Amino acid sequence: MSIYQLFSTKPIQQLMHHASEGNTMKRALSATNLTTLGIGAVIGAGIFVLTGQAAAQYAGPGIVISFLISGMACLFAGLCYAEFASMIPISGSAYTYAYATLGEFIAWIIGWDLILEYLFAASTVSVGWSGYVVSFLKDFGIFIPPQFTAAWHTILVDIPNLGWKPLTSQLAASLTSSGIVVDHLPHVTAILNLPAMFVIAAITILLVIGIKESAGFNNVMVIIKVFVILLFIGIGFFFVNKANWHPFIPPNTGTWGHFGWSGVLRGSAVIFFAYIGFDAVSTAAQEAKNPQRDMPIGILGSLGISTVLYILVAIVLTGIVSYTFLNVADPIAVGVDAMGKGLFWLRPIIKIAAIAGLSSVILVMMLGQPRIFYAMAKDGLLPPRFAKIHSRFKTPYFSTLITGSFAFVLAGILPIDILGELVSIGTLLAFVIVCIGIIFLRVKRPEIKRPFKTPLVPLIPVLGALICMIQMYSLPFDTWLRLIVWMAIGMIIYFTYSIRHSLLRNHNGQGKAQQ
Ligand code: ALA
Repeated sequence: MSIYQLFSTKPIQQLMHHASEGNTMKRALSATNLTTLGIGAVIGAGIFVLTGQAAAQYAGPGIVISFLISGMACLFAGLCYAEFASMIPISGSAYTYAYATLGEFIAWIIGWDLILEYLFAASTVSVGWSGYVVSFLKDFGIFIPPQFTAAWHTILVDIPNLGWKPLTSQLAASLTSSGIVVDHLPHVTAILNLPAMFVIAAITILLVIGIKESAGFNNVMVIIKVFVILLFIGIGFFFVNKANWHPFIPPNTGTWGHFGWSGVLRGSAVIFFAYIGFDAVSTAAQEAKNPQRDMPIGILGSLGISTVLYILVAIVLTGIVSYTFLNVADPIAVGVDAMGKGLFWLRPIIKIAAIAGLSSVILVMMLGQPRIFYAMAKDGLLPPRFAKIHSRFKTPYFSTLITGSFAFVLAGILPIDILGELVSIGTLLAFVIVCIGIIFLRVKRPEIKRPFKTPLVPLIPVLGALICMIQMYSLPFDTWLRLIVWMAIGMIIYFTYSIRHSLLRNHNGQGKAQQ
């Protein structure tokens, strides 16, 4: 095998042919369904959990600018996704786009990398879901033993008035500074995060049953979360105290990333997680009624709506309460508390919205992953079973069950920060490759029909790739190390299995690879 073969691209006609061959998935999704699918995947733990923490620790009210910066990077990547999705409307997302432009090897790398985005994001968000559900049930007197509510080996302490919380070094320091002796508090060591595992199992079953049922459930969840976010913005607006916005960018403390402009930048890397998911729309291309027209609408529409909501929430939240009080797991609820006793009724509603929001993120991520496996199996890079469609439910049930099983285990045993950072680095890498792919294909295949065109090429893709690379750079070394180990595992699978089963290599009769 020559090195050139590693970089053989798959002709777009051949990609479409292989994808449509035996495509028995139901074409049931409209432009509105696709947009709600995107909003379903995007609005979740990022806004309900991370916004407050990023404002309190890094950016202050300047978190509004952090949202703008991160939103801009996502918009640039989103425009590139939209061009690809309209041009190659099949279900493999960035994996397929890379196969058409950068070659099989890079396609494999990105397909393997996308597992970090989709499968790992489902597990990450299920851990956030677990936190909200445990707290919601506690409000109704239902108590889940703490050792079954967190990742394996997490030490939990029972803090007066707050309940069981994971003992981080930050928490220990703040308890000590308020005169509490940590060793005197009741401790337990967690075994498994059972609620997180439960939600993964329930959503896996729903996804096997059908795309229409799943989209219907997603629509309901999206309506609940968007309605409650609008309620928060609408009511919160009247409680803004402009003094809370001064200074808008608190002065840097002397450490990079702690307030000042560097804090705004670090804040943007942290809340990047909030935007992840709009690209999941591109995985459902084969279930879209009119993919060439509706994919760009779904991708850019969901990204635009989420960005506007995020910026409004950030403005209102930092206006009603000082950012210094926001370093909590439920910052929106803290915002509601600050509006006074008359609005306490909104608290449980916020929790319900968060639970609904997180459920839909898990759903769409777990809907995306099997469809990428499906595309990879159709190309022969994964065993054919991954492309099997259930005869009655018309869903890729085998890959859905595999996705569900792995996400189930990860949700039970890993903590949210390790999972979340892996998701961010994996997604950023995918965005970089998609942005570069757009430039490549414009040069190599200018003649292909592009129902949607990214404006200002190469400026937009170059800026998109650059901002994503800067954000990758700001992630911790350990996360890079995990990414490298993950990729190394992927290489082993590629060189031992995929390379020998690739249809592109073995089916030259159906169209020659381009080199
Ligand atoms: N953007 C998704 C969330 O914030 C992953 O939960």
